[in-house]
Amino acid sequence: PVQRSFVLLKPDAVRRGLVGSVLSRFEAKGLSIVALQLRQVDGELSDQHYAEHVERDFYPPLREFITSGPSIAMIVEGDEAIEVVRALNGATDGRKAAPGTIRGDLSLSNRENLVHGSDSPESAAREIALWFPEHS
Ligand code: CMP
Repeated sequence: PVQRSFVLLKPDAVRRGLVGSVLSRFEAKGLSIVALQLRQVDGELSDQHYAEHVERDFYPPLREFITSGPSIAMIVEGDEAIEVVRALNGATDGRKAAPGTIRGDLSLSNRENLVHGSDSPESAAREIALWFPEHS
């Protein structure tokens, strides 16, 4: 089925000048960009987006990182978009992600891993409502 996924190109992607390269991979795969916005994430939005992680040990530095500069927030659409985006992104830890994936090719970090994609239809609906209320 056609799905929508929320995708965030994190501050490391913007800082490293990799926005075009990463976007190209989604476009080349055949996904459509439905919405896109440059966004400076603040602490409150980080806490809402990462609500399931706020109590974790890794969260404070993640919050620091995600608020450290502008990100690109977007909605992508296509057949099985949620699973397809996750496959393109690769495993969370860039050091372990398979070559050929965004993280596997371009990241050497478990935190600064360039990209976030919704992990389920429920997460996609929640994240789209949070980041792009006009699209939910
Ligand atoms: P993301 O897909 O945005 O979802 C949660 C994020 O937390 C993840 O990508 C990583 O950026 C970060 N993360 C998850 N696990 C760890 C960890 N063990 N150490 C540091 N950062 C982590």
